[in-house]
Amino acid sequence: MPPDPAPVSTLPRIPISRPWIGPEEKAAVLEVLDSGMLAEGPRVAAFEEAFSRLTGARHSIATSSGTTALHLAMLAHGIGPGDEVITSPFTFIASVNSILFTGAQPVFADIDEATFNIDPAHIERAITPRTKAIMPVHLYGQPCDMDEISMLARRYGIPIIEDAAQAVGASYRGRAVGSFGTGVFSLYATKNVMTAEGGMITTDDDHVAETARLLRNHGMRKRYQYEMLGYNFRLTDIQAAIGLAQLGRMSESTRRRRLNATFLNGHIESVATPITKEGRDHVWHQYTIRLPEGADRDEAIARLERAGIGTGIFYPLGGHRFPHVREVVGDVSLPITDRVAASVISLPVHPLLEHADLERIVAAVNSL
Ligand SMILES: Cc1ncc(COP(=O)(O)O)c(C=O)c1O
Repeated sequence: MPPDPAPVSTLPRIPISRPWIGPEEKAAVLEVLDSGMLAEGPRVAAFEEAFSRLTGARHSIATSSGTTALHLAMLAHGIGPGDEVITSPFTFIASVNSILFTGAQPVFADIDEATFNIDPAHIERAITPRTKAIMPVHLYGQPCDMDEISMLARRYGIPIIEDAAQAVGASYRGRAVGSFGTGVFSLYATKNVMTAEGGMITTDDDHVAETARLLRNHGMRKRYQYEMLGYNFRLTDIQAAIGLAQLGRMSESTRRRRLNATFLNGHIESVATPITKEGRDHVWHQYTIRLPEGADRDEAIARLERAGIGTGIFYPLGGHRFPHVREVVGDVSLPITDRVAASVISLPVHPLLEHADLERIVAAVNSL
């Protein structure tokens, strides 16, 4: 007989994420609507400047999503058929797809079992004469080991394209993510800074910036003069206005995420809590626990759900496990990613959690 299920909570369900939208965002959107300038305009330019201030990058290029930002970053670095890009298999599929879009080959380096971020030792083994970029992914908002990765990039003369989609505001030894090479951010609705959909490229490289800007808008510098095959990957002023309001409260929302994570770290006893390595300013896009080997994750999630705790699995499978990726990379062995992907559960850590919510989360997890 299976054990009796825990009683269903009568308290409101705590969602895994919740966008923080205040009167500032609403007023900013109405202002743009009233201005009549809806597409890419002055708000987008101001939003790009704000990202350059945040990261210290010379150029910021806003796009329609994190995925299109990654795609443009690849193309602007001249990556195409015959090239290889080293990345993490333990990521959202867009990191991998952006490489595939260009006809290049993703090469997976397995992850560090402590932080779940790409392991520099595995990167070095994956470098070949065809390697045209290293793409670390700052998973859950924790920066990768950028000293080691920057050293490899310098030693082998390979550019870094950071997938900082989940890590806006994070830094490594005081230096902002997105400034170690070309950086890419996602501004999707659940991200720490969001525009509903949107993305941003940051770079110090004039050529990369100029190419990304051209590609974003049909390869067009002068009206209806097309210099190359381009796209419509533009962000709107409506979205940029939301983003500017979001940046205005980023330090408070990050502060709350950190406090929430600290509370969970201090009170969860039954399972492995996240490990933050020294020198990382983690922004806690996700708070991810790891169940012991052999534990029934589906059952754990069902029990948390009955207690009214929303959860997520980021990510249930490594990128190497999907048919469209296998077709290109073949069968690869990434045992750490496979093990980790089978055992993680992310819990709510968002800035709108109340203290009572945190206590409920802790109680539910500790009773697993
Ligand atoms: C690591 C990572 N890369 C890329 C993306 C793609 O961003 P978007 O959803 O804005 O296209 C995401 C979004 O979830 C992500 O988490």
